[in-house]
Amino acid sequence: MLTIYKNSLSLQLDGPEESEFNFMWLRDNCQCEDCLHPVTRERTLITSDIPENISPIASNVADGKLSIMWNDQQHQSNYNFEWLIQQNKQQSQNSNFDDPAVGELKLWDKSLEDNIPTFDYKQLTNDDSILLAWCEAIRDIGLTIVRGAPTKKGEIERFAEHVGCVRETIYDRLHDVNADPNAYNVAQTSLELKPHTDMPNYNNPPGVQMFHFIKNEAKGGISTAVDGYHVAKLLKDHDPEAYKVLSETAVPFRIYSDKGDIVSSNPLLTLDTDGKLKVFRFSNQVAQPLSLSNTKMNEFYHAYRLLGKLIEDPNNMVQFRLNTGDMMATNNLRVMHGRTSYDINSGSRHLQLSYMDYDDVLSRIRMIKKASL
Ligand code: OGA
Ligand code: ZN
Ligand code: ZN
Repeated sequence: MLTIYKNSLSLQLDGPEESEFNFMWLRDNCQCEDCLHPVTRERTLITSDIPENISPIASNVADGKLSIMWNDQQHQSNYNFEWLIQQNKQQSQNSNFDDPAVGELKLWDKSLEDNIPTFDYKQLTNDDSILLAWCEAIRDIGLTIVRGAPTKKGEIERFAEHVGCVRETIYDRLHDVNADPNAYNVAQTSLELKPHTDMPNYNNPPGVQMFHFIKNEAKGGISTAVDGYHVAKLLKDHDPEAYKVLSETAVPFRIYSDKGDIVSSNPLLTLDTDGKLKVFRFSNQVAQPLSLSNTKMNEFYHAYRLLGKLIEDPNNMVQFRLNTGDMMATNNLRVMHGRTSYDINSGSRHLQLSYMDYDDVLSRIRMIKKASL
């Protein structure tokens, strides 16, 4: 059964239900070799060349295929039912792509402390099924610990290369953190580091942050983490207006080094097109002075204070000790990290950082799943 409407058609594919497809969409997604490059599978058809009144001159269904001759230069398109069924499934789920890397967010608070996803370095780097679990933990929880990595310098950069691509920033591919008399940021002192996301000064902050303790023999310096998505949800439930203010006020951030000077302004809560929180930015120490009207200034500081209190609330924070050879990784678009202060005279503390983009983790999930098919 094929029914033609003004700008769409409907047909039965694999059951009694009718599936509807828009003409412009069908023409745009013609699968022929003139429209879709047969080798690269990239579109060679110029979408904007399709006339607005596009519609079929003739159409029929036979041999598991929908065939259409269009009023645009009598172009002929064929669509396999299998492909149409897949597309229909995605359209009904409102998703653009049938993605094997889609996960399920699990928001967390202090109660995660006893079950932070924890991995053994050897297993993680030798077994792709364990690496898949690590990638999925970054995706769903946004915080992982890896125990027992070699204490060689550069290990975290090699680990990033094993998973995906190193994301370079003005802090180098491999960034050393240890107490330094010429400290250029709080991390390079032995002071407490409040929970923050790194590099909020980039329009696209690095999505995954990885830490490797070459040495941790100091007293103190306990690692902390807070789920930004969770505290944002608490804020939204408690004061939706404050949540809205933080999603609509651009905050300037700046970090500079002798390699560069990166400044950008973005909301602390960047929302996706469907209104869901996508990127959480928070770094009290590198936020720059705001320029807002007095009214907006008051609204902003009211909201910021509420968020700040939620971040500081011990019920929302996990704490854990990372020892020499341990690694930790966060989804830096979601989870804040920090540390308590440490006693510089009690032993040395040296960690190295590398970053990746979040897309690299999703990519690795797709690749491992593809390889195991
Ligand atoms: C940093 C940082 C944490 C630590 O350097 O960005 O957050 O444990 N360091 O020193
Ligand atoms: Zn075509
Ligand atoms: Zn940091």
